[in-house]
Amino acid sequence: MSMKVVIIGAGPGGYVSAIRCAQLGMQVTIIEKYKSLGGTCLNVGCIPSKALLDSSEHYHQAIHQFASHGIEVGKAKFDFAKMISRKEDVIMQNTKGIEYLMKKNKIEVINGLASFISDHKIKVSGNTSVTEIDFDYCVIATGSKPNIPPSFNYNKDRIISSTEALSLTEFPKELIIVGAGVIGLELGSVYARLGAKVTVIEYLDRILPGMDLDCAKELQKTLKGIGIEFILGQSVQSVIQNKKRIQLVYKDKSNDSDHQLEADYCLVAIGRKAYTDGLELNQIDLQLDEKGRIPVNENCQTKVKNIFAIGDVIHGPMLAHKAEEEGVFVAEYLSGQKPKLNHNLIPGVVYTWPEMASVGMTEESLKEKNIKYKIGKFPFKALGRARASMDMDGFVKILADADSDEILGVHIVGARAADLIMEAAALMEFKSTAEDMSRICHPHPTFSEGLKEAALDATGKRAIHM
Ligand code: FAD
Ligand code: NAI
Repeated sequence: MSMKVVIIGAGPGGYVSAIRCAQLGMQVTIIEKYKSLGGTCLNVGCIPSKALLDSSEHYHQAIHQFASHGIEVGKAKFDFAKMISRKEDVIMQNTKGIEYLMKKNKIEVINGLASFISDHKIKVSGNTSVTEIDFDYCVIATGSKPNIPPSFNYNKDRIISSTEALSLTEFPKELIIVGAGVIGLELGSVYARLGAKVTVIEYLDRILPGMDLDCAKELQKTLKGIGIEFILGQSVQSVIQNKKRIQLVYKDKSNDSDHQLEADYCLVAIGRKAYTDGLELNQIDLQLDEKGRIPVNENCQTKVKNIFAIGDVIHGPMLAHKAEEEGVFVAEYLSGQKPKLNHNLIPGVVYTWPEMASVGMTEESLKEKNIKYKIGKFPFKALGRARASMDMDGFVKILADADSDEILGVHIVGARAADLIMEAAALMEFKSTAEDMSRICHPHPTFSEGLKEAALDATGKRAIHM
């Protein structure tokens, strides 16, 4: 008899794990509380945000760049309702694709809320019925939810999270965003490009904490250029809705004075938290860590040996590709293989324009760890390809070990950084040096030449075009 695996949650962690388990001959059931499969990523995260980022970038280019390319389109207009409905179509195509993959791999899909009864039995509460399922192994992939403290008076009307910001029915002319993290900057870009007055207010004195500071400063400059106003280093006290307006009070940390801001909408994007509501983990004697996550060992195994957890609900970056890799890892581990997952080389991308992407260590973390490093840098404006497309903002920054020359971190802010970062990740997986990268023939004219030039710069100031 094949091994019976139950997976809770059909986000990128859960559905990918289900497919890999099925490929390896296991009998798989996946339980999802919403009708639509795909989790946060497909329904209210990665995919819808990128759909709106693409639509708004086309509009922005039509207004600000087409003319300099010699293209006259008259007065460009946008239809906000159509943008939102195109985004819905994109979601639908993707979620239907997951349904197809479940059928193709003979994975049983059950809709309902999963709760543990014991370490070998789960209960699924659907709309009309309750089912009990036995399992040999279980993978918890229940993801995360926005983390919004009560003082923000989150009401899904005008004080909103990313979920509502992706499906507004009216265009927000004035939008305040709390949090200059990934969500704040991506959704701030969408609305600023379409002409909204966007103000981002952030607790720290910089944007994108945790990512490379030089890149973050460069990105902030270009985002200011599309009209986003930044208020940094300030602490938000409260947000309230008064009829069709929102009022936000923040304290200026330098002199303790209170300030008020007003807008049509307030998007609160100050992080997400692991989601375990309804699982009844007490039935299997599992306690959460101090951040509400499920504790696991290096094999994503909880202290209950036949129960695993992956993705946003455990420690590590809350990223779809991290959840997917953990899903595959657990499936292969259960089948008796010895899989490997390098958590130090998970790339991170911010899909603004220009994009920002990173892999490996930042300069700040190298300093903290007292690791001696050298830097190679190359500006996009010195690339022929960047001049041809008028995408000249940004640079590539390579950090390599001062002695061994091994690449320790690569940080890019610039056009197509999201795709460029994979060359760095691949080379770093094989412990390549900056010299290795600098000696690979890169096609001309491409943005990838920026990586080669930065590597040349890191290895003895050999950059050719600088
Ligand atoms: P989730 O995708 O959250 O899926 C968990 C699923 O479990 C959900 O469908 C939920 O309904 C279900 N569930 C929960 N509890 C139960 C239960 N008891 N019973 C049954 N079902 C249950 N990441 C990227 O890598 N790139 C991006 O560009 C990106 N953009 C993002 C944009 C936004 C606006 C947001 C909010 C997130 C974005 N992310 C992005 C993060 C990404 O969406 C998450 O990291 C990813 O979805 C995590 O996958 P997961 O499988 O762990 O959980
Ligand atoms: P985040 O952690 O990226 O950023 C939150 C920001 O809010 C931080 O800068 C923090 O300092 C600030 N902050 C916290 N409390 C605050 C307060 N009271 N007042 C003002 N500022 C405050 O979280 P975000 O943007 O909500 O995104 C959540 C997660 O979703 C990300 O960590 C990421 O893992 C994932 N995501 C990934 C994307 C991608 O890969 N492109 C896109 C969007 C989300």
